[in-house]
Amino acid sequence: MSEAKRLAAEKAMDHVEDGMVVGVGTGSTVAYFIDALGRDPTRIKGAVSSSEQSTARLKAHGIEVLDLNHTGPLSLYVDGADECDPRRHLIKGGGAALTREKIIAEASERFVCIIDASKQVEVLGRFPLPVEVIPMARSLVARQITTMTGGQPVFRMQAGDKAVITDNGNVILDIHHLSITDPKALEMAINQIPGVVSVGLFARRPADVVIVGGEPPQVP
Ligand code: A5P
Repeated sequence: MSEAKRLAAEKAMDHVEDGMVVGVGTGSTVAYFIDALGRDPTRIKGAVSSSEQSTARLKAHGIEVLDLNHTGPLSLYVDGADECDPRRHLIKGGGAALTREKIIAEASERFVCIIDASKQVEVLGRFPLPVEVIPMARSLVARQITTMTGGQPVFRMQAGDKAVITDNGNVILDIHHLSITDPKALEMAINQIPGVVSVGLFARRPADVVIVGGEPPQVP
């Protein structure tokens, strides 16, 4: 799949204009996009990054990383996804960067999503839905989501029996066994639970353009 990811990332370069500040997501597909930006790092003014991981890669290419508070609205955000439905609604957060990704998507005029064909689904939910949670609210949120959705929340761990901690100091619940027929309603409902920082459903603010590596771009 990495060739398809690379092709999608290269195609996203068509949306990059000279002197732009580009919003940059997180993940293996975006890594190809950062490398493509890095071929001519001074062509853009800089990037707003969604994670420490992407920041390190951008800086390694000599691309300036800017603070969203100082850039104003962005013209372009490029990011991957874990699942994408035909209405360009997404599940994101497999890389635990969902909150900053959501902030940058919201601040951007155009969200270009780059994926390989394996991410395309008719109904979201086969990929466990990530929810970033304030640590003390983990059990409360898990119980409420179980009651609300019938899904099964799993506390995300890393090797060595340690919790995955996000760049914001929070934890992740991955909700298994969902079939998300109304993504906007579920996004809003989960957002209402105290302790939820953000949910990895991008339905209220879907992608504007989806590029599937090796296929023509999908636009409304
Ligand atoms: C990061 O938190 C995610 O939202 C990524 O965008 C998503 O997991 C896609 O990652 P890959 O490009 O590595 O498949």
